[in-house]
Amino acid sequence: MFTIIPEQASEFAPKVDWLNDVITGLSVFFTVAIVGAMIYFAIRYRKREGEKRDTPRIHGNNTLEIIWTVMPTLICIYIAYYGVVYFHEMRHVPEDAMTVNVTAQKWNWTFDYEGRKSTSNEIVIPVNKPVKFVLTSRDVLHSFFVPAMRVKSDAVPGMYTYVSFKPVKVGDYHVFCTEYCGDLHSQMMAKLKVVSEDEYHRWLNEKEPEVSGVDKGKQIYKKLGCNACHSLDGSAVIGPSFQKLFGRKGTLEGGAEYTADENYIRSSILNPQGQIVQGFTAAKMPVFEGQITDEEIMDVISFIKTLDGTVPVEEEVQVEVAEEVDLSKLTPVERGELIYKNPANLCQTCHSIDGSKVIGPTFKGIFGREEKMADGSQVVADAAYIKESILNPMAQVVDGYPPAMPSFAGKLSDEQIADLTEWLKTVK
Ligand code: CUA
Repeated sequence: MFTIIPEQASEFAPKVDWLNDVITGLSVFFTVAIVGAMIYFAIRYRKREGEKRDTPRIHGNNTLEIIWTVMPTLICIYIAYYGVVYFHEMRHVPEDAMTVNVTAQKWNWTFDYEGRKSTSNEIVIPVNKPVKFVLTSRDVLHSFFVPAMRVKSDAVPGMYTYVSFKPVKVGDYHVFCTEYCGDLHSQMMAKLKVVSEDEYHRWLNEKEPEVSGVDKGKQIYKKLGCNACHSLDGSAVIGPSFQKLFGRKGTLEGGAEYTADENYIRSSILNPQGQIVQGFTAAKMPVFEGQITDEEIMDVISFIKTLDGTVPVEEEVQVEVAEEVDLSKLTPVERGELIYKNPANLCQTCHSIDGSKVIGPTFKGIFGREEKMADGSQVVADAAYIKESILNPMAQVVDGYPPAMPSFAGKLSDEQIADLTEWLKTVK
């Protein structure tokens, strides 16, 4: 059946419609009244044949003017009041809301259930449970529109936006892209299925995704070396811990307040210097712009959200070296370079080879360099110093660097350290 107003399928849909009806009703009433009066007066007081009449001089009527100024003002305040109240309700995400990450792309929608499942152009959600859709786009501006739920928000490349609602009716609903995004814009649709709680869980467990977003996020956490500075157990290492990070509120250097939401985490990864949490200025986090996609950041966020302190932190995840190499065929310098580049060793996270200062001193020109220690003494970086720095880093911290390096005793053999030293001699 043809309907002008779509079904009311979310909790706040009736309120949206009510306010819409009020505004439409007022508009219709005043349009009819004003235009009606205008037509009536035009006919009633029209100039008739042979009539000679001067227009009388009319002075203002204060009572009338006060009425027609105050009344519309009150009506506008009334509408604005409910507009603000309902808008606030729409933007408020309940604590128990489930999250679905949405990626728009010419010309389809993909939905990720925080790693538990991933779908394309179809979303299934349980009835009577609040849901939050976090939106981003891979290419151009799109807009996520579910008329039956009365929600609409742009999906913008390079940032996250969201819509949130509580579905109250089981059924199938349309999702449209409502921002012109290219020639197949009109076909960029998806189906939203609201089902019972039981049916939802059955659907969710139908088949396991190969790798969940949470797992991917955890792998990225290891791969990019985040673990060198951000613990998962609540302890502050070099940067703030990731435990209970999501939703955390605090103060930045400079005094501004922050809330660790999606966009805060995203910009902290891409441009860390823009917002440093108070008390964490000692180390300079490397910029990850260009090294991580928005989708990967979503996975990292999904992973961070699991760190609410209720589940024990798992042991180190092993990062494997991509290919098997016959080490005996390599020169010591080549072997040393491989040790440096092995992501599991994390050297690269803190020590650059191009002279830039990251968290630790650069390796460029390190061999034979004279370093000033935190205790004021001067040390020449020879083989013995390098070995000691690897096995017992806290014993000799270079001035100006945080005492942050983990010990590699038991992780690197004497031969490996010798190889690494040979390679370091060549980093100039
Ligand atoms: Cu996507 Cu229009």
